[in-house]
This record gives sequence, structure tokens and C-alpha cells, in this order.
Amino acid sequence: MTAKIIDGKAFAAQLRARVAEEVAQLRSAHGVQPGLAVVLVGEDPASQVYVRSKGKATVEVGMKSVEHRLPADTSQVALLELIGELNADPSIHGILVQLPLPAHLDETLVINAIDPDKDVDGFHIFNAGRLATGQKAMVPCTPLGCLMLLREELGTLAGLEAVVIGRSNIVGKPMAQLLLRDSCTVTVAHSRTRDLPSVVRRGDIVVAAVGRPQMVKGDWLKPGATVIDVGINRVDRPDAGTRLVGDVEFDSAVKVARAITPVPGGVGPMTIACLLANTLTACCRIHG
Ligand code: GUN
Repeated sequence: MTAKIIDGKAFAAQLRARVAEEVAQLRSAHGVQPGLAVVLVGEDPASQVYVRSKGKATVEVGMKSVEHRLPADTSQVALLELIGELNADPSIHGILVQLPLPAHLDETLVINAIDPDKDVDGFHIFNAGRLATGQKAMVPCTPLGCLMLLREELGTLAGLEAVVIGRSNIVGKPMAQLLLRDSCTVTVAHSRTRDLPSVVRRGDIVVAAVGRPQMVKGDWLKPGATVIDVGINRVDRPDAGTRLVGDVEFDSAVKVARAITPVPGGVGPMTIACLLANTLTACCRIHG
């Protein structure tokens, strides 16, 4: 068996096109333009790349994009003040503070200072609680993108065994909540899980979000599993330079799975598309 390669890039392009259509309608019917503010503290090169691509994608769908780039030594008070201003700004519907923050800043305090209805990352404690208790929530973008790919691939997920590898607040935990909400039987595996291969082998669905290059091997998988690889790891090439690989060993997994996301071109593009979809949702809740 050779797995179908799930084209996240194409799916994300369709999603962005649908968002762009709705943005255009919102502007013509209500005279409202959704606005997204992205806050970056410091000069982390990877974060700079993410922030740039988020801004570009925001403008491409017709939304207003505002970037606040603050020096690495910005004080907590100054950052909280900026968040307060963005919370009060009626032209801003979504606020994203790029993580990680410099060590002297309290990430939890900063995230929880964002108006939960503008929290397009879905990281605010209210949104985590709303998701866990089945209330209307802003859902973190990466797991939301994974769920969309799974639904597109499998239709209903009810009754399927899902194994999530990783328990981060950004991916693993919300992913497990979303799969539970779709009536999967969910196992969350992590670094202390015993006999990980046999746990992974239960999964009709496997979502790998551990940040360890090519850790999940093809012979760990149940034949016919659908595999979503959230990992983005840069590794050295044997010749020269680097390449991106996921948390799943693609070459062995593709022989066992029914469908699998590639890295790059799988989950990555869905994250930004879902950020735009969340910003539109936030705007519609106020003006729609
Ligand atoms: N850093 C890495 N991923 C993310 C994300 O999805 N949102 C934010 N705010 N920061 C990140």
C-alpha cells in the first residue's frame, strides 16, 4: 500500500480563498474590514519569518494587518499596555502575540490579558476552558487545521481511535479536545509514555506533535491509519545544507498509512489559513 499524500497547501489555498470572499462581502455589506494585530517582542529569526508570512497572508485576503515589533527588553508593563490598547481598538478584531516571549516576560499573564474574543490563537484560559467544556471557543490554529484535514479525508470521525503524540497547550491538548468533540476515542501519548509504538499502533488517526525529527516509524502504525504530521524540524543533509522533516519517518510511514501529510506542504499552510479564518470569525461575532 502507498498512502495518499494529503495536500495541505491546496486545501489551505481553498480556505484562504473562501475567507477572502467573505471578507469582501463583509466590506461591501457592512463596511467592515477585519483587522489582525500581530505583536513580536525581540528578534528571534524563526518568529520574524512567521510574523512576516502572517502579515502577508492577512493583506492577501483583504484584511487590515498591523504589526507591532518591540525590542527584546520591552517591559511587561509596556507590553500589557499595548495589549490594552489593541483590546480597545474597534478596528482590531484579532490579536496574536508571537511566542516564545523573551524569558523576563510572563507568557501566561500576557496571553490572558488579551480580550478572549480577540484571541485568535485560542490560547487564553477562557478559550481553553470553553473548548474543554464544549462551549463556543476560539480554537488554536494548528489543531484546527489538522481537524479540517482529517474531516476532509475521513468524513465523520466518530468512533475512530485517535492517538495524539504530544501534550503541549498549543497543539496536543487542544487537538485531543477537538477529536473528543468529534467523538473519537482519544489517547494522548507523551515523553513518559511506556511502549509508545504499541500505543501508536491503536490509532486509526495519529497526530504527531512532539518536535523530534522522524521519531514515529512506519512499523509503529496500524495499517490504513491516517497520519497528520505537525512536526517541522530542520536537520542537516548528508551532502550540505539543511532540509525540513516532520516527526514521522515519511518514507516508512507512507508504505503503511492510508493517508499522510507531507512536511513541508501539509499542516504548516493550514495554520496561517486557520488564523485568517479565526480573525474573520472574531470580526463576524462583533459585526456579522
Ligand atoms: N509560536 C509558534 N507557533 C505559534 C502560534 O501558533 N501562535 C503564536 N502566537 N506563537 C507561536
